[in-house]
Amino acid sequence: MQKTIIITGSSQGIGAAAVRTFLDRGYNVVATSRNVTTSKELPASPRLVLVDGDIGQIATAVNVTEAAIEKFGTIDALVNNAGIFFTKRFIDYTPEDFKHLVSTNLEGFIYITQLAIQQMLLQKKGGSIVSITAALADNPISGVNGSIPMLTKGGINSITRSLAIEYAQDKIRMNIVAPGVVDTPLHENDSKDYLKTLSPMGSISKSQEIVDAIIYLTEAPHVTGEVLHVDGGSHIGKW
Ligand SMILES: NC(=O)c1ccc[n+]([C@@H]2O[C@H](COP(=O)([O-])OP(=O)(O)OC[C@H]3O[C@@H](n4cnc5c(N)ncnc54)[C@H](OP(=O)(O)O)[C@@H]3O)[C@@H](O)[C@H]2O)c1
Repeated sequence: MQKTIIITGSSQGIGAAAVRTFLDRGYNVVATSRNVTTSKELPASPRLVLVDGDIGQIATAVNVTEAAIEKFGTIDALVNNAGIFFTKRFIDYTPEDFKHLVSTNLEGFIYITQLAIQQMLLQKKGGSIVSITAALADNPISGVNGSIPMLTKGGINSITRSLAIEYAQDKIRMNIVAPGVVDTPLHENDSKDYLKTLSPMGSISKSQEIVDAIIYLTEAPHVTGEVLHVDGGSHIGKW
């Protein structure tokens, strides 16, 4: 039977590449972001449903999961990809920055993951949840001041371990892809030469490499609680 996957943050970048690839692999896909219905990066397909909304709002999570069940009947996998990132000195982060980061990166994980797991429990066939965090969460780089964004990404790393245990017997697997720098619109204003210095391999990855890691984790029946780094070795240490 065809599987149904929900992919958040899918109007551009890694999320849009994931939508195209999972469609190519025969999945039904529910793609969501604030402006996904106007995205130019997604193909038209009878196996693709688009739902606009802010993923930090519980109403969006409800709309997305209801759309998946109404159109395709099941939720078999979820990719928590929506996320925001910006750098500043720790002492310059504002309460508004913090609330925005918590809303998108943490509430954007919690509500949709709760509803997806609830549906997977009803289906009794297990499921897969892959979330995108960042190599920077566990391996800070001098000069890349991402303390508060990494508080949220590190939170996803932690909760994934908790949920991997909590739902192991239900065969609902929880995994993470931790990218280094990926060539997406997130970095459209950053110098590529500078970005390349942020990994020991001296290179940056394409969205498709992150998608390939997501596919592996989504389809690996015995892998749970794993963090798969796609970061040119930046999590290993100093270079
Ligand atoms: N690119 C990198 O170097 C890098 C490195 C490490 C980790 N990551 C992580 O990888 C994920 C994808 O990154 P990317 O580079 O593809 O980013 P991107 O090009 O900036 O795309 C972000 C996506 O998230 C959606 N989004 C943002 N805020 C949202 C909200 N409040 N509600 C719903 N959707 C929202 C955006 O769509 P709308 O504008 O339509 O809402 C867009 O589709 C993120 O979690 C990011 O932190 C990226």
